[in-house]
Amino acid sequence: MKPYTVIAAIAILIIGSASAGRFATAATLQQDPPGKAPYDANCKKCHGAIGVAPKSMKTKFPKIATFNAEFFEHRSADSVVTILTKGKGQDMKSFKDKLSHAEMVAVAAYIRAFGKPK
Ligand code: HEC
Repeated sequence: MKPYTVIAAIAILIIGSASAGRFATAATLQQDPPGKAPYDANCKKCHGAIGVAPKSMKTKFPKIATFNAEFFEHRSADSVVTILTKGKGQDMKSFKDKLSHAEMVAVAAYIRAFGKPK
């Protein structure tokens, strides 16, 4: 191998691994919050993608909560976990058989973010 071929090969290796590192970092930053998957799977159909229930659900469940700043003024993350554990009323079921405590905590943090100004 000619010397410059070796240098070029080394340079390609260095540049390659450096940019792979950069892509890995970007992918990590764009990862979904841990509460998103359990929320989308268990809550979204009633509470909507960003915590505002679709009209059909509001008609079906007039008492359904909207997860906005006003809602969270009166509720802590713990109180959401309690609701998820025990349920509330007829239609807001307990999720204690479907979600682990850690998932409930993650979902509580996730829906709280809907109430934060962007
Ligand atoms: C079948 C539809 C349905 C699903 C699925 C559902 N909810 Fe609800 N949720 C409701 C209804 C209806 C209410 C209003 C209950 C009431 O006030 O009587 C409610 C109320 C709530 C409240 C407010 C309780 C309070 O403090 O007043 C929270 C928080 C909540 N839901 C979170 C969730 C989360 C998180 C999930 C997913 C793990 C979920 N819900 C899944 C229908 C649903």
